[in-house]
Amino acid sequence: MFSLTTSLFTLIAALFISAQAALCVEDTRTVAQNADKVLEQTERITVSLKKMDFFRQDYSHFCTGSILSKDWILTAGHCFTDKFGIATSRIVVDAGSVHLSNLNGSRYKIAEYVIHPNQSESILIYKHDLCLVKLEEPLKFTENIQPSHLGTIEDQKEVPVLGGGWGRVSQHGSLNRKLRFQNLKTMAYDECQRIHKKRKNIVDRVFHICGYGGIGKTLCFGDSGGPLVDPSTGYQVGVFSALEDCSGEYPVLFMRVETYLDWINDVTKLNLSLN
Ligand SMILES: *[C@@H]1O[C@H](CO)[C@@H](O)[C@H](O)[C@H]1NC(C)=O
Ligand SMILES: *[C@@H]1O[C@H](CO)[C@@H](O)[C@H](O)[C@H]1NC(C)=O
Ligand SMILES: *[C@@H]1O[C@H](CO)[C@@H](O)[C@H](O)[C@H]1NC(C)=O
Repeated sequence: MFSLTTSLFTLIAALFISAQAALCVEDTRTVAQNADKVLEQTERITVSLKKMDFFRQDYSHFCTGSILSKDWILTAGHCFTDKFGIATSRIVVDAGSVHLSNLNGSRYKIAEYVIHPNQSESILIYKHDLCLVKLEEPLKFTENIQPSHLGTIEDQKEVPVLGGGWGRVSQHGSLNRKLRFQNLKTMAYDECQRIHKKRKNIVDRVFHICGYGGIGKTLCFGDSGGPLVDPSTGYQVGVFSALEDCSGEYPVLFMRVETYLDWINDVTKLNLSLN
């Protein structure tokens, strides 16, 4: 079964895909400077969602998210699907730190969360895997805490994207102590679907963006809900939803933010627009 990115699941399959190397024609120094700037911007919009662990008497990271406004965080729906319900009082949002320990960051309680009403997890397709989390007290924007700007991406062909979070370093590894982003490339819908051919219709271009980085360069459990950013603009275009495993053999799936803008604005009463 294709697995959501907070739960642990291994799939046995041996398909190989080769990523085409991009031809680099731009001035590498300008590109590198821009890349650093976008990475910093992306870190400022990224938060860690933590749940009280009663055994440890401490909060532990369960998902990544991004800041939409001073009151609202965007993450993956499956982060909050739990048949017994998740008490909001057990959850905090850590912002303004690249460190999992929230060194020099700020911690906020949450007031409520709203999972997309049509969120569904099936072996065939993961739909509408988004959740909006409202904070109890508004975020104080600082140099290290900034809202995301949403955007669109032309992913009919391969284009670079940046995705990440505090997910595991490997399938059975521990969480990254420091926020980590991977350079990925989008993959055309039909190619992504072809690689996931054992799962008919798992990918739908309307809902999903496929991302691929190659062996050892992918996202893992705990990166769920993390932002996918267009490195040429810094705009957030996706939310990390599902993966096959943490090897990097298969493309991973992100929810396409542009498809959900109306829902986001309806729930939050924000008037966000696509850049
Ligand atoms: C944390 O804040 C202190 C005091 O402002 C500063 O000296 C230190 O360098 C900061 N550490 C990090 C990792 O940013
Ligand atoms: C959920 O699905 C129903 C039935 O297809 C549709 O009418 C409704 O608009 C959907 N809700 C959202 C928020 O997309
Ligand atoms: C919402 O944003 C659009 C464009 O950004 C603007 O034209 C419109 O006036 C805004 N509406 C409200 C109610 O603020």
